[in-house]
Amino acid sequence: MTKTEDSKSTMRTMRLGHWWRFILFLAVLAGAQRSNAQDELWWKSTTVYQIYPRSFYDTDGDGLGDLNGIIQKLDHIQALGFETIWISPFFKSPQRDFGYDISDYQSIAPEYGDKQTCLKLIEAIHKRDMKIVFDLVMNHTSDEHAWFKESASSKDNPKADWYVWKDGKGKNGRKPPNNWKATIGGSGWHWHEGRQQFYWASFLDFQPDLNYSNPEVKQAMLDVARFWLSKGVDGFRLDIFNSIFEDTAFTNNPASLKIVPSEESPDGFFQKMKYNVNQEESFRFATELRAVVDSFQNPERFMVGEVFGDVETIKKFTSFENKDGLHTIFLFQTLSTPFKAKKWRKMVEHFEGNFPAPFVPTYVFSNHDRRRSITPLGNDVRKAKLLALFQFSVRGIPFTYYGEELGIEKPKLPLKTGKDPLAQRYKAIPQFMVDWTGQSLNRDECRTPMLWDTTAHAGFTSGEPWLPVAENLREKAVSVQEEDEESLMNFYRKMIRLRNENEVLQMGVLTVDEGFSSAKIFAFSREMKGQKLLVLMNFSKRNQKVESVSGENLISTYMDFSKTELKPFEGRIIRLQ
Ligand code: NOJ
Repeated sequence: MTKTEDSKSTMRTMRLGHWWRFILFLAVLAGAQRSNAQDELWWKSTTVYQIYPRSFYDTDGDGLGDLNGIIQKLDHIQALGFETIWISPFFKSPQRDFGYDISDYQSIAPEYGDKQTCLKLIEAIHKRDMKIVFDLVMNHTSDEHAWFKESASSKDNPKADWYVWKDGKGKNGRKPPNNWKATIGGSGWHWHEGRQQFYWASFLDFQPDLNYSNPEVKQAMLDVARFWLSKGVDGFRLDIFNSIFEDTAFTNNPASLKIVPSEESPDGFFQKMKYNVNQEESFRFATELRAVVDSFQNPERFMVGEVFGDVETIKKFTSFENKDGLHTIFLFQTLSTPFKAKKWRKMVEHFEGNFPAPFVPTYVFSNHDRRRSITPLGNDVRKAKLLALFQFSVRGIPFTYYGEELGIEKPKLPLKTGKDPLAQRYKAIPQFMVDWTGQSLNRDECRTPMLWDTTAHAGFTSGEPWLPVAENLREKAVSVQEEDEESLMNFYRKMIRLRNENEVLQMGVLTVDEGFSSAKIFAFSREMKGQKLLVLMNFSKRNQKVESVSGENLISTYMDFSKTELKPFEGRIIRLQ
Protein backbone atom coordinates (compact mmCIF):
# COMPACT_ATOMS: atom_id res chain seq x y z
CA MET A 1 0.00 0.00 0.00
CA THR A 2 1.39 3.43 -1.04
CA LYS A 3 1.50 6.28 1.36
CA THR A 4 -1.46 7.98 -0.37
CA GLU A 5 -3.54 4.80 -0.35
CA ASP A 6 -2.62 4.36 3.26
CA SER A 7 -3.69 7.86 4.18
CA LYS A 8 -6.94 7.41 2.14
CA SER A 9 -7.73 4.28 4.06
CA THR A 10 -6.93 6.07 7.33
CA MET A 11 -9.32 8.85 6.27
CA ARG A 12 -12.01 6.25 5.46
CA THR A 13 -11.52 4.61 8.83
CA MET A 14 -11.74 8.02 10.45
CA ARG A 15 -14.90 8.84 8.54
CA LEU A 16 -16.33 5.46 9.43
CA GLY A 17 -15.24 6.17 12.99
CA HIS A 18 -17.24 9.39 12.89
CA TRP A 19 -20.21 7.56 11.49
CA TRP A 20 -20.06 5.00 14.22
CA ARG A 21 -19.77 7.72 16.78
CA PHE A 22 -22.71 9.49 15.17
CA ILE A 23 -24.79 6.29 15.17
CA LEU A 24 -23.79 5.67 18.74
CA PHE A 25 -24.82 9.22 19.59
CA LEU A 26 -28.24 8.65 17.94
CA ALA A 27 -28.66 5.38 19.79
CA VAL A 28 -27.88 7.04 23.11
CA LEU A 29 -30.33 9.82 22.29
CA ALA A 30 -33.02 7.29 21.41
CA GLY A 31 -32.29 5.44 24.62
CA ALA A 32 -32.58 8.63 26.61
CA GLN A 33 -35.83 9.43 24.89
CA ARG A 34 -37.11 5.95 25.61
CA SER A 35 -36.26 6.25 29.27
CA ASN A 36 -37.97 9.64 29.26
CA ALA A 37 -41.02 8.03 27.72
CA GLN A 38 -40.72 5.23 30.28
CA ASP A 39 -41.21 7.84 32.98
CA GLU A 40 -44.32 9.02 31.27
CA LEU A 41 -45.99 5.64 30.88
CA TRP A 42 -49.76 5.97 30.60
CA TRP A 43 -50.56 4.11 33.80
CA LYS A 44 -48.43 6.43 35.91
CA SER A 45 -50.62 9.40 35.14
CA THR A 46 -53.95 7.70 34.57
CA THR A 47 -57.25 7.93 36.45
CA VAL A 48 -59.25 4.74 37.00
CA TYR A 49 -63.02 4.25 37.16
CA GLN A 50 -64.12 0.93 38.66
CA ILE A 51 -67.29 -0.69 37.37
CA TYR A 52 -69.16 -3.42 39.20
CA PRO A 53 -70.86 -4.75 36.08
CA ARG A 54 -73.84 -6.31 37.83
CA SER A 55 -74.94 -2.91 39.08
CA PHE A 56 -73.97 -0.48 36.33
CA TYR A 57 -76.54 -0.56 33.51
CA ASP A 58 -78.94 -3.28 32.39
CA THR A 59 -79.87 -3.39 28.71
CA ASP A 60 -81.89 -6.62 28.58
CA GLY A 61 -84.28 -6.17 31.48
CA ASP A 62 -83.06 -9.08 33.64
CA GLY A 63 -82.30 -6.75 36.55
CA LEU A 64 -78.52 -7.25 36.20
CA GLY A 65 -76.11 -4.86 34.55
CA ASP A 66 -74.32 -6.16 31.46
CA LEU A 67 -71.42 -5.50 29.09
CA ASN A 68 -73.69 -3.83 26.54
CA GLY A 69 -74.73 -1.52 29.33
CA ILE A 70 -71.12 -0.51 29.88
CA ILE A 71 -70.70 0.17 26.15
CA GLN A 72 -73.81 2.35 26.17
CA LYS A 73 -72.64 4.35 29.16
CA LEU A 74 -69.07 5.04 28.09
CA ASP A 75 -70.02 8.64 27.35
CA HIS A 76 -70.68 9.18 31.05
CA ILE A 77 -67.26 7.90 32.06
CA GLN A 78 -65.47 9.80 29.35
CA ALA A 79 -67.33 13.02 30.16
CA LEU A 80 -66.08 12.68 33.71
CA GLY A 81 -62.58 12.57 32.29
CA PHE A 82 -61.47 9.10 33.35
CA GLU A 83 -58.91 7.46 31.11
CA THR A 84 -58.97 3.87 32.38
CA ILE A 85 -61.82 1.53 33.28
CA TRP A 86 -61.38 -1.45 35.60
CA ILE A 87 -64.26 -3.91 35.47
CA SER A 88 -64.93 -6.44 38.24
CA PRO A 89 -65.12 -10.04 36.93
CA PHE A 90 -67.77 -10.91 34.34
CA PHE A 91 -66.52 -14.36 33.38
CA LYS A 92 -68.51 -17.59 33.56
CA SER A 93 -69.35 -18.21 37.18
CA PRO A 94 -72.04 -19.70 39.40
CA GLN A 95 -72.12 -16.15 40.84
CA ARG A 96 -72.05 -17.28 44.44
CA ASP A 97 -69.51 -14.49 45.03
CA PHE A 98 -70.85 -12.51 42.07
CA GLY A 99 -68.04 -13.27 39.68
CA TYR A 100 -65.11 -13.70 42.07
CA ASP A 101 -65.79 -17.43 41.76
CA ILE A 102 -64.86 -18.19 38.17
CA SER A 103 -65.72 -21.45 36.44
CA ASP A 104 -64.24 -20.58 33.04
CA TYR A 105 -61.69 -17.78 32.59
CA GLN A 106 -62.13 -17.49 28.85
CA SER A 107 -65.93 -17.37 28.65
CA ILE A 108 -68.27 -14.56 29.54
CA ALA A 109 -71.12 -15.17 31.98
CA PRO A 110 -74.24 -15.24 29.76
CA GLU A 111 -76.05 -12.75 32.03
CA TYR A 112 -73.36 -10.19 31.14
CA GLY A 113 -73.00 -10.93 27.42
CA ASP A 114 -70.74 -13.03 25.23
CA LYS A 115 -67.20 -13.04 23.87
CA GLN A 116 -68.16 -10.88 20.91
CA THR A 117 -69.66 -8.21 23.15
CA CYS A 118 -66.57 -8.34 25.33
CA LEU A 119 -64.31 -7.77 22.33
CA LYS A 120 -66.63 -4.98 21.21
CA LEU A 121 -66.26 -3.40 24.63
CA ILE A 122 -62.46 -3.54 24.47
CA GLU A 123 -62.58 -1.97 21.03
CA ALA A 124 -65.08 0.71 22.03
CA ILE A 125 -62.89 1.73 24.97
CA HIS A 126 -59.77 1.85 22.83
CA LYS A 127 -61.52 3.89 20.16
CA ARG A 128 -62.02 6.55 22.79
CA ASP A 129 -58.33 6.47 23.53
CA MET A 130 -59.07 4.95 26.92
CA LYS A 131 -57.68 1.84 28.60
CA ILE A 132 -59.39 -1.26 29.98
CA VAL A 133 -58.24 -3.28 32.99
CA PHE A 134 -59.70 -6.70 33.80
CA ASP A 135 -60.00 -8.26 37.23
CA LEU A 136 -57.86 -11.39 37.37
CA VAL A 137 -58.76 -13.86 40.10
CA MET A 138 -55.69 -16.07 40.14
CA ASN A 139 -55.74 -17.34 43.69
CA HIS A 140 -58.82 -19.52 43.43
CA THR A 141 -61.48 -20.80 41.07
CA SER A 142 -65.09 -21.72 41.68
CA ASP A 143 -65.63 -25.25 42.95
CA GLU A 144 -67.65 -25.64 39.75
CA HIS A 145 -64.61 -25.07 37.55
CA ALA A 146 -63.87 -28.16 35.42
CA TRP A 147 -60.34 -28.19 36.92
CA PHE A 148 -61.67 -28.55 40.44
CA LYS A 149 -64.24 -31.14 39.48
CA GLU A 150 -61.52 -33.25 37.89
CA SER A 151 -59.12 -32.64 40.75
CA ALA A 152 -61.75 -33.68 43.29
CA SER A 153 -62.74 -36.82 41.39
CA SER A 154 -59.85 -38.98 42.71
CA LYS A 155 -56.40 -38.80 44.25
CA ASP A 156 -54.63 -39.88 41.07
CA ASN A 157 -56.28 -38.01 38.20
CA PRO A 158 -54.10 -35.75 36.00
CA LYS A 159 -55.26 -32.67 37.93
CA ALA A 160 -55.14 -34.29 41.37
CA ASP A 161 -52.53 -31.74 42.51
CA TRP A 162 -54.04 -28.66 40.91
CA TYR A 163 -55.57 -27.60 44.23
CA VAL A 164 -54.22 -27.68 47.78
CA TRP A 165 -55.33 -31.07 49.12
CA LYS A 166 -54.24 -32.56 52.41
CA ASP A 167 -55.11 -35.48 54.64
CA GLY A 168 -56.89 -34.58 57.83
CA LYS A 169 -55.71 -35.25 61.36
CA GLY A 170 -57.22 -37.17 64.25
CA LYS A 171 -58.42 -40.74 64.54
CA ASN A 172 -60.64 -40.68 61.49
CA GLY A 173 -58.78 -37.93 59.68
CA ARG A 174 -61.65 -35.47 60.04
CA LYS A 175 -59.69 -32.77 61.82
CA PRO A 176 -58.18 -29.98 59.65
CA PRO A 177 -54.53 -30.60 58.68
CA ASN A 178 -53.30 -27.49 60.52
CA ASN A 179 -54.50 -24.33 62.27
CA TRP A 180 -54.57 -21.96 59.28
CA LYS A 181 -57.46 -19.53 59.19
CA ALA A 182 -59.13 -18.15 56.09
CA THR A 183 -58.73 -14.41 55.52
CA ILE A 184 -62.33 -13.98 56.63
CA GLY A 185 -61.94 -16.05 59.81
CA GLY A 186 -62.64 -19.70 60.62
CA SER A 187 -60.62 -22.62 59.33
CA GLY A 188 -59.83 -22.37 55.64
CA TRP A 189 -59.79 -26.17 55.35
CA HIS A 190 -62.89 -27.87 53.98
CA TRP A 191 -63.70 -31.56 54.01
CA HIS A 192 -64.38 -33.25 50.68
CA GLU A 193 -66.37 -36.45 50.91
CA GLY A 194 -65.25 -37.73 47.51
CA ARG A 195 -61.51 -37.48 48.12
CA GLN A 196 -61.79 -38.06 51.85
CA GLN A 197 -59.40 -35.13 52.22
CA PHE A 198 -59.42 -31.47 53.05
CA TYR A 199 -58.90 -28.73 50.47
CA TRP A 200 -57.64 -25.24 51.28
CA ALA A 201 -59.63 -22.06 50.54
CA SER A 202 -58.21 -18.64 51.50
CA PHE A 203 -61.63 -17.04 51.14
CA LEU A 204 -64.98 -18.87 51.04
CA ASP A 205 -65.44 -22.65 50.92
CA PHE A 206 -66.70 -22.63 47.32
CA GLN A 207 -63.50 -20.84 46.18
CA PRO A 208 -60.77 -23.52 46.44
CA ASP A 209 -57.20 -22.20 46.16
CA LEU A 210 -55.17 -23.29 43.15
CA ASN A 211 -51.90 -25.03 43.94
CA TYR A 212 -49.20 -22.77 42.50
CA SER A 213 -46.43 -25.14 43.59
CA ASN A 214 -47.56 -27.20 40.66
CA PRO A 215 -45.85 -25.73 37.53
CA GLU A 216 -48.79 -26.81 35.35
CA VAL A 217 -51.15 -24.62 37.37
CA LYS A 218 -48.81 -21.67 37.10
CA GLN A 219 -48.59 -22.09 33.33
CA ALA A 220 -52.35 -22.51 32.97
CA MET A 221 -52.97 -19.25 34.82
CA LEU A 222 -50.21 -17.39 32.99
CA ASP A 223 -51.92 -18.56 29.82
CA VAL A 224 -55.16 -16.99 31.02
CA ALA A 225 -53.30 -13.70 31.41
CA ARG A 226 -51.74 -14.12 27.95
CA PHE A 227 -55.15 -14.90 26.46
CA TRP A 228 -56.70 -11.60 27.54
CA LEU A 229 -53.56 -9.55 26.90
CA SER A 230 -53.58 -10.87 23.35
CA LYS A 231 -57.14 -9.58 23.04
CA GLY A 232 -55.87 -6.10 23.84
CA VAL A 233 -56.64 -5.82 27.55
CA ASP A 234 -54.39 -3.12 29.02
CA GLY A 235 -53.85 -4.62 32.42
CA PHE A 236 -55.11 -6.46 35.46
CA ARG A 237 -56.30 -5.81 38.95
CA LEU A 238 -55.11 -8.88 40.85
CA ASP A 239 -57.53 -10.31 43.38
CA ILE A 240 -56.13 -11.33 46.82
CA PHE A 241 -52.71 -11.67 45.29
CA ASN A 242 -50.99 -12.17 48.63
CA SER A 243 -52.69 -15.54 49.14
CA ILE A 244 -51.28 -17.14 45.97
CA PHE A 245 -48.73 -19.43 47.67
CA GLU A 246 -48.86 -21.31 50.97
CA ASP A 247 -46.05 -22.98 52.87
CA THR A 248 -45.62 -26.43 51.35
CA ALA A 249 -44.65 -27.90 54.75
CA PHE A 250 -48.04 -26.71 56.09
CA THR A 251 -46.45 -25.38 59.28
CA ASN A 252 -48.92 -24.18 61.92
CA ASN A 253 -49.33 -20.42 62.18
CA PRO A 254 -48.14 -18.79 65.43
CA ALA A 255 -50.63 -17.18 67.79
CA SER A 256 -51.29 -13.44 67.85
CA LEU A 257 -53.34 -11.05 69.95
CA LYS A 258 -54.75 -9.41 66.86
CA ILE A 259 -58.44 -10.03 66.31
CA VAL A 260 -59.37 -8.12 63.17
CA PRO A 261 -57.10 -8.05 60.10
CA SER A 262 -56.15 -4.54 58.98
CA GLU A 263 -54.87 -2.82 55.86
CA GLU A 264 -51.25 -3.12 57.03
CA SER A 265 -51.46 -6.68 58.24
CA PRO A 266 -53.50 -9.73 57.31
CA ASP A 267 -52.94 -11.15 60.82
CA GLY A 268 -56.15 -11.61 62.77
CA PHE A 269 -58.49 -14.03 64.48
CA PHE A 270 -55.70 -14.52 67.07
CA GLN A 271 -53.28 -15.75 64.45
CA LYS A 272 -50.19 -14.51 62.59
CA MET A 273 -50.77 -15.45 58.98
CA LYS A 274 -47.13 -16.38 58.67
CA TYR A 275 -47.37 -19.50 56.54
CA ASN A 276 -50.40 -18.95 54.32
CA VAL A 277 -50.10 -15.29 53.27
CA ASN A 278 -47.33 -13.12 51.75
CA GLN A 279 -44.95 -16.01 51.02
CA GLU A 280 -41.55 -15.48 49.33
CA GLU A 281 -42.80 -17.58 46.40
CA SER A 282 -45.64 -15.13 45.86
CA PHE A 283 -43.14 -12.27 45.56
CA ARG A 284 -41.21 -14.28 43.01
CA PHE A 285 -44.38 -15.12 41.13
CA ALA A 286 -45.11 -11.38 40.83
CA THR A 287 -41.93 -11.03 38.76
CA GLU A 288 -42.82 -14.05 36.62
CA LEU A 289 -46.21 -12.53 35.93
CA ARG A 290 -44.57 -9.18 35.19
CA ALA A 291 -42.36 -10.81 32.57
CA VAL A 292 -45.44 -12.25 30.85
CA VAL A 293 -47.24 -8.91 30.99
CA ASP A 294 -44.14 -7.09 29.72
CA SER A 295 -43.93 -9.40 26.74
CA PHE A 296 -46.99 -7.55 25.44
CA GLN A 297 -46.20 -4.00 24.36
CA ASN A 298 -47.69 -1.01 22.59
CA PRO A 299 -49.02 -0.01 24.89
CA GLU A 300 -47.19 -1.24 27.95
CA ARG A 301 -49.57 -3.26 30.15
CA PHE A 302 -50.17 -2.68 33.84
CA MET A 303 -50.96 -4.54 37.08
CA VAL A 304 -52.28 -3.41 40.43
CA GLY A 305 -52.31 -5.91 43.27
CA GLU A 306 -54.82 -6.38 46.03
CA VAL A 307 -52.37 -7.05 48.83
CA PHE A 308 -52.60 -6.52 52.56
CA GLY A 309 -49.32 -6.03 54.33
CA ASP A 310 -46.71 -3.67 55.71
CA VAL A 311 -44.37 -1.46 53.70
CA GLU A 312 -41.75 -4.20 53.32
CA THR A 313 -44.31 -6.65 51.98
CA ILE A 314 -45.65 -4.16 49.48
CA LYS A 315 -42.14 -3.38 48.33
CA LYS A 316 -41.47 -7.07 47.83
CA PHE A 317 -44.56 -7.50 45.66
CA THR A 318 -43.47 -4.63 43.43
CA SER A 319 -39.79 -5.72 43.50
CA PHE A 320 -39.15 -2.18 44.54
CA GLU A 321 -35.45 -2.03 43.72
CA ASN A 322 -35.56 -3.70 40.32
CA LYS A 323 -39.04 -2.50 39.43
CA ASP A 324 -39.87 -5.85 37.91
CA GLY A 325 -42.80 -6.93 40.08
CA LEU A 326 -46.36 -5.63 40.17
CA HIS A 327 -46.53 -2.04 38.90
CA THR A 328 -48.35 -0.85 41.97
CA ILE A 329 -50.43 -2.01 44.94
CA PHE A 330 -53.60 -0.68 46.53
CA LEU A 331 -52.50 1.30 49.56
CA PHE A 332 -55.61 0.68 51.60
CA GLN A 333 -54.74 2.93 54.55
CA THR A 334 -56.73 5.54 52.66
CA LEU A 335 -59.85 3.65 53.72
CA SER A 336 -59.24 3.85 57.43
CA THR A 337 -57.61 7.27 57.77
CA PRO A 338 -59.95 9.64 59.64
CA PHE A 339 -61.01 12.79 57.80
CA LYS A 340 -58.63 15.14 59.64
CA ALA A 341 -55.94 17.46 58.26
CA LYS A 342 -53.15 15.98 60.38
CA LYS A 343 -54.10 12.36 59.66
CA TRP A 344 -54.23 12.91 55.92
CA ARG A 345 -50.93 14.72 56.03
CA LYS A 346 -49.45 11.76 57.87
CA MET A 347 -50.88 9.36 55.32
CA VAL A 348 -49.41 11.30 52.39
CA GLU A 349 -46.05 11.63 54.16
CA HIS A 350 -46.09 7.91 54.83
CA PHE A 351 -46.76 7.08 51.16
CA GLU A 352 -44.30 9.66 49.82
CA GLY A 353 -41.62 8.65 52.33
CA ASN A 354 -41.89 4.92 51.75
CA PHE A 355 -42.87 4.84 48.10
CA PRO A 356 -41.11 7.79 46.46
CA ALA A 357 -41.11 8.29 42.68
CA PRO A 358 -40.73 6.50 40.36
CA PHE A 359 -43.09 4.32 42.44
CA VAL A 360 -46.65 5.52 41.99
CA PRO A 361 -48.93 5.23 45.02
CA THR A 362 -52.65 4.54 44.67
CA TYR A 363 -55.47 6.49 46.25
CA VAL A 364 -58.64 4.50 46.75
CA PHE A 365 -61.53 5.48 49.01
CA SER A 366 -64.11 2.81 48.27
CA ASN A 367 -64.66 -0.29 46.19
CA HIS A 368 -67.08 -3.20 45.82
CA ASP A 369 -66.06 -4.56 49.25
CA ARG A 370 -66.06 -1.36 51.30
CA ARG A 371 -68.56 1.17 52.43
CA ARG A 372 -69.24 4.15 50.20
CA SER A 373 -66.72 6.95 50.80
CA ILE A 374 -69.38 9.50 51.70
CA THR A 375 -70.60 7.35 54.63
CA PRO A 376 -67.79 8.15 57.07
CA LEU A 377 -68.07 11.77 55.88
CA GLY A 378 -71.60 11.91 57.32
CA ASN A 379 -73.02 12.11 53.76
CA ASP A 380 -71.70 15.67 53.57
CA VAL A 381 -71.26 16.71 49.94
CA ARG A 382 -68.83 19.50 50.89
CA LYS A 383 -66.50 16.87 52.30
CA ALA A 384 -67.03 14.60 49.29
CA LYS A 385 -65.88 17.45 47.03
CA LEU A 386 -62.83 18.01 49.18
CA LEU A 387 -62.04 14.31 48.97
CA ALA A 388 -62.28 14.46 45.18
CA LEU A 389 -60.05 17.54 45.02
CA PHE A 390 -57.49 15.69 47.12
CA GLN A 391 -57.72 12.43 45.20
CA PHE A 392 -57.11 14.08 41.83
CA SER A 393 -54.39 16.45 42.95
CA VAL A 394 -52.22 14.18 45.09
CA ARG A 395 -49.34 12.24 43.49
CA GLY A 396 -50.65 8.80 42.61
CA ILE A 397 -53.24 6.86 40.67
CA PRO A 398 -56.80 7.70 41.73
CA PHE A 399 -59.24 4.77 41.72
CA THR A 400 -62.88 5.83 41.78
CA TYR A 401 -65.68 3.33 42.30
CA TYR A 402 -68.79 3.83 40.15
CA GLY A 403 -71.34 6.13 41.77
CA GLU A 404 -68.81 7.95 43.92
CA GLU A 405 -69.09 10.85 41.52
CA LEU A 406 -72.76 11.04 42.51
CA GLY A 407 -72.15 10.67 46.22
CA ILE A 408 -74.27 7.50 46.39
CA GLU A 409 -74.93 6.80 50.06
CA LYS A 410 -74.82 3.47 51.80
CA PRO A 411 -78.34 2.19 52.34
CA LYS A 412 -79.03 0.08 55.40
CA LEU A 413 -79.46 -3.49 54.23
CA PRO A 414 -79.72 -6.10 56.98
CA LEU A 415 -77.17 -8.88 57.19
CA LYS A 416 -79.89 -11.52 57.43
CA THR A 417 -81.32 -10.93 53.98
CA GLY A 418 -77.98 -10.12 52.33
CA LYS A 419 -77.24 -11.66 48.93
CA ASP A 420 -73.54 -11.21 49.59
CA PRO A 421 -72.05 -14.55 50.70
CA LEU A 422 -70.14 -12.71 53.45
CA ALA A 423 -73.41 -11.32 54.82
CA GLN A 424 -74.78 -14.85 54.87
CA ARG A 425 -71.71 -16.07 56.64
CA TYR A 426 -71.87 -13.38 59.31
CA LYS A 427 -75.63 -13.30 59.68
CA ALA A 428 -75.51 -14.56 63.26
CA ILE A 429 -73.87 -11.27 64.33
CA PRO A 430 -76.58 -9.07 65.85
CA GLN A 431 -77.41 -6.12 63.62
CA PHE A 432 -76.89 -3.56 66.41
CA MET A 433 -73.26 -4.69 66.72
CA VAL A 434 -72.70 -4.22 63.01
CA ASP A 435 -74.30 -0.77 63.17
CA TRP A 436 -72.14 0.08 66.16
CA THR A 437 -68.88 -0.66 64.32
CA GLY A 438 -70.01 1.56 61.43
CA GLN A 439 -68.51 -1.03 59.10
CA SER A 440 -70.30 -2.82 56.32
CA LEU A 441 -70.38 -6.58 56.64
CA ASN A 442 -73.08 -6.80 54.02
CA ARG A 443 -71.35 -5.82 50.81
CA ASP A 444 -74.74 -5.44 49.08
CA GLU A 445 -74.69 -2.00 50.66
CA CYS A 446 -71.95 -0.76 48.38
CA ARG A 447 -73.22 -2.57 45.30
CA THR A 448 -76.62 -0.96 44.80
CA PRO A 449 -77.50 0.03 41.23
CA MET A 450 -76.11 3.12 39.57
CA LEU A 451 -78.50 6.06 39.61
CA TRP A 452 -78.98 7.20 36.03
CA ASP A 453 -82.22 9.18 36.15
CA THR A 454 -85.43 9.71 38.07
CA THR A 455 -87.53 7.09 36.26
CA ALA A 456 -88.40 3.73 37.84
CA HIS A 457 -85.37 2.01 39.36
CA ALA A 458 -83.34 5.13 38.63
CA GLY A 459 -83.10 4.11 34.98
CA PHE A 460 -80.84 1.17 35.85
CA THR A 461 -83.16 -1.54 34.53
CA SER A 462 -86.56 -2.01 32.97
CA GLY A 463 -86.94 -5.18 35.05
CA GLU A 464 -86.56 -5.90 38.75
CA PRO A 465 -83.12 -4.75 39.99
CA TRP A 466 -81.06 -7.46 41.68
CA LEU A 467 -80.48 -5.12 44.64
CA PRO A 468 -82.76 -2.34 45.80
CA VAL A 469 -82.23 1.05 44.20
CA ALA A 470 -81.75 3.86 46.67
CA GLU A 471 -85.09 5.41 45.71
CA ASN A 472 -84.95 8.26 48.23
CA LEU A 473 -81.61 9.29 46.78
CA ARG A 474 -82.85 9.85 43.29
CA GLU A 475 -81.88 13.49 43.55
CA LYS A 476 -78.35 12.13 43.18
CA ALA A 477 -79.00 10.68 39.72
CA VAL A 478 -76.79 11.63 36.79
CA SER A 479 -79.66 13.38 35.00
CA VAL A 480 -80.33 15.57 38.05
CA GLN A 481 -76.72 16.43 38.79
CA GLU A 482 -76.14 17.22 35.14
CA GLU A 483 -78.44 20.23 35.51
CA ASP A 484 -76.81 21.56 38.65
CA GLU A 485 -73.59 23.43 38.07
CA GLU A 486 -72.61 23.01 41.71
CA SER A 487 -73.30 19.27 41.90
CA LEU A 488 -70.71 16.78 43.07
CA MET A 489 -70.69 15.16 39.64
CA ASN A 490 -69.92 18.43 37.92
CA PHE A 491 -67.17 19.05 40.42
CA TYR A 492 -65.64 15.65 39.54
CA ARG A 493 -65.75 16.66 35.88
CA LYS A 494 -64.03 19.98 36.50
CA MET A 495 -61.44 18.50 38.80
CA ILE A 496 -60.50 15.60 36.52
CA ARG A 497 -60.34 17.94 33.53
CA LEU A 498 -57.95 20.15 35.48
CA ARG A 499 -55.76 17.14 36.25
CA ASN A 500 -55.85 15.96 32.64
CA GLU A 501 -54.83 19.38 31.38
CA ASN A 502 -52.02 19.89 33.88
CA GLU A 503 -49.10 17.51 33.69
CA VAL A 504 -47.89 18.91 37.00
CA LEU A 505 -50.93 17.37 38.74
CA GLN A 506 -50.20 14.01 37.15
CA MET A 507 -46.45 13.77 37.55
CA GLY A 508 -45.23 16.74 39.57
CA VAL A 509 -43.14 16.40 42.71
CA LEU A 510 -45.24 16.59 45.89
CA THR A 511 -44.03 18.59 48.88
CA VAL A 512 -46.02 19.15 52.04
CA ASP A 513 -46.39 22.90 52.59
CA GLU A 514 -45.31 23.61 56.15
CA GLY A 515 -46.40 27.24 56.00
CA PHE A 516 -50.05 26.62 55.21
CA SER A 517 -50.50 23.26 56.96
CA SER A 518 -51.97 23.34 60.46
CA ALA A 519 -54.28 21.29 62.64
CA LYS A 520 -57.17 22.29 60.38
CA ILE A 521 -55.50 22.77 57.02
CA PHE A 522 -53.51 20.32 54.98
CA ALA A 523 -51.53 21.92 52.17
CA PHE A 524 -49.07 20.59 49.64
CA SER A 525 -47.53 21.71 46.41
CA ARG A 526 -46.99 19.95 43.10
CA GLU A 527 -44.04 21.11 41.09
CA MET A 528 -42.73 20.33 37.63
CA LYS A 529 -40.94 22.07 34.77
CA GLY A 530 -40.93 25.42 36.54
CA GLN A 531 -44.64 25.27 37.39
CA LYS A 532 -45.88 25.16 40.95
CA LEU A 533 -49.42 24.48 42.15
CA LEU A 534 -50.53 24.93 45.74
CA VAL A 535 -53.28 22.67 47.08
CA LEU A 536 -55.08 23.98 50.16
CA MET A 537 -57.62 21.87 52.06
CA ASN A 538 -59.65 23.00 55.02
CA PHE A 539 -60.73 19.99 57.07
CA SER A 540 -62.72 21.99 59.58
CA LYS A 541 -66.33 23.09 59.63
CA ARG A 542 -65.25 26.70 60.28
CA ASN A 543 -63.80 29.32 58.00
CA GLN A 544 -60.01 29.40 58.19
CA LYS A 545 -57.94 32.49 57.54
CA VAL A 546 -55.14 32.00 55.02
CA GLU A 547 -52.45 34.32 53.85
CA SER A 548 -53.27 35.64 50.42
CA VAL A 549 -50.87 34.32 47.80
CA SER A 550 -50.27 35.74 44.40
CA GLY A 551 -51.30 33.30 41.75
CA GLU A 552 -54.13 32.10 39.60
CA ASN A 553 -56.99 30.33 41.28
CA LEU A 554 -57.54 27.14 39.26
CA ILE A 555 -60.38 25.49 41.14
CA SER A 556 -62.28 25.60 44.41
CA THR A 557 -64.92 23.28 45.84
CA TYR A 558 -67.04 26.43 46.21
CA MET A 559 -68.27 28.63 43.38
CA ASP A 560 -67.47 31.82 45.32
CA PHE A 561 -64.43 32.10 47.53
CA SER A 562 -62.30 34.65 49.29
CA LYS A 563 -58.55 35.11 48.83
CA THR A 564 -57.89 35.32 52.54
CA GLU A 565 -60.18 32.64 53.85
CA LEU A 566 -61.05 29.03 53.24
CA LYS A 567 -64.71 28.14 53.76
CA PRO A 568 -65.79 25.05 55.73
CA PHE A 569 -64.29 21.98 54.07
CA GLU A 570 -63.12 24.04 51.13
CA GLY A 571 -60.42 22.77 48.86
CA ARG A 572 -58.62 25.06 46.46
CA ILE A 573 -55.79 24.85 43.96
CA ILE A 574 -53.71 27.90 43.06
CA ARG A 575 -51.11 28.22 40.34
CA LEU A 576 -48.33 30.18 42.02
CA GLN A 577 -46.59 33.00 40.25
C1 NOJ B 1 -61.42 -9.78 47.06
C2 NOJ B 1 -62.53 -9.21 46.24
O1 NOJ B 1 -62.40 -7.82 46.20
C3 NOJ B 1 -63.82 -9.66 46.87
O2 NOJ B 1 -64.94 -9.03 46.31
C4 NOJ B 1 -63.93 -11.16 46.70
O3 NOJ B 1 -65.09 -11.60 47.37
C5 NOJ B 1 -62.70 -11.86 47.30
N1 NOJ B 1 -61.47 -11.22 46.94
C6 NOJ B 1 -62.62 -13.27 46.83
O4 NOJ B 1 -62.29 -13.32 45.48
